[in-house]
Amino acid sequence: MPYTTALRCRECGRHYPIEPLNVCEFCFGPLEVDYDYDAIKAKVSRASIKDGPHTIYRYEALLPVSRARAVDIGAGFTPLLRADRLGKLLGIENLWLKNDAVNPSYSFKDRVVSIAATKALEFGMDTIACPSTGNLAGAVAAHGAKAGMRTLVFIPRDLERGKILGAAVYGPTVIAVNGNYDDVQRLCSELADAHRWAFVNVNMRSYYAEGSKTLGYEVAEQLGWKAPDHAIVPMASGAMITKIYQGIQEFARIGLIPDAHTKMHGAQARGCSPIVKAIQGGHTHPKPEIPKTIAKSLAIGNPADGFYAIKAMKSSGGSGVVVEESEVAEGIMLLARTEGIFTETAGGVVISAIRRMAEAGTFKPGESVVAYITGNGFKTMEAVEPSVNKPIQIEANMESFEERVLAAVGR
Ligand SMILES: Cc1ncc(COP(=O)(O)O)c(C=O)c1O
Ligand SMILES: [Zn+2]
Repeated sequence: MPYTTALRCRECGRHYPIEPLNVCEFCFGPLEVDYDYDAIKAKVSRASIKDGPHTIYRYEALLPVSRARAVDIGAGFTPLLRADRLGKLLGIENLWLKNDAVNPSYSFKDRVVSIAATKALEFGMDTIACPSTGNLAGAVAAHGAKAGMRTLVFIPRDLERGKILGAAVYGPTVIAVNGNYDDVQRLCSELADAHRWAFVNVNMRSYYAEGSKTLGYEVAEQLGWKAPDHAIVPMASGAMITKIYQGIQEFARIGLIPDAHTKMHGAQARGCSPIVKAIQGGHTHPKPEIPKTIAKSLAIGNPADGFYAIKAMKSSGGSGVVVEESEVAEGIMLLARTEGIFTETAGGVVISAIRRMAEAGTFKPGESVVAYITGNGFKTMEAVEPSVNKPIQIEANMESFEERVLAAVGR
């Protein structure tokens, strides 16, 4: 890790060694990885990045681990697709989809976990774990398997079947806790104090969160070394939106893109929207709430990075957007039927948020708008099952086809 200098408190600036720490002892601020940006600037160029692998490790210099020792199942460098049909429908000229649903374990969480797992091995830890709203469990289980680590994933009891199976298949110990995510998270914080285990989003959070910066780097690179005008990001803890913003700013800082002015917009579903409620109410901190939403991946009632997510949205000139529960499945279907991409509930939230923003006139003609599609629809089939047509049953003959199919679809 040649460019990582220390951990640094985001609040008071105190430095700490590179260890499994995440909170400042003095002010309880979160610790972040600090880099030697001058050295990075001198070393890294567009050409050197282009020569890199088609994974998050093409941005190795801006990450806290080295590629050579990475627990790498191929996270990142996912497609950025123009969404002309959806754009036309919504009245957005320049709409793009960052399709992170096609990562190895089918969500953006592979980015963050690859970094955390690598760091855990570096620290000599043999157990990897997490509290999860679903996708993280799958990513931790997959990377734990690849790394040969003992793996424990803690989930709330009422998760979707696809999320549970999508973790269990990799062979971890899956622990279903009788409570919501915030209860699971609290338990895991206690366990992280009691055991030297790598809880990726607890004691390893400083390293883990760095992985999400690559969602900012990639979009800027894929747009032709230019930051988008608007980014729309689903929020649970608020970490991803904070780190995408940081990533875009870092790219400008080291001279890879011109000055960045991306407006960061965060989206949540009505049944769990503490961050959006706070920003809309003019508050700096979210007020914790009990989640009750179909968008289970976003069901964090007490978001750890809510304060920083609000800061990112505000200082970038962006906004918080809430969508109704009924709009979640609608957003999933709209994306699938216009652009051929099947996303999970978090993506449904994002698409419906963009529709609302377009209606409100948020986007000026020609501005580039990037929708972050962060998870795969096959993990939340329950959300759209009631809305899709059942197959037409026929016998294997022409008469049956004509009678039942042509009657339905027309000749
Ligand atoms: C698919 C998906 N999108 C977005 C998020 C939100 O990420 P964050 O907690 O960093 O705000 C999650 C969190 O679990 C998720 O699973
Ligand atoms: Zn501090």
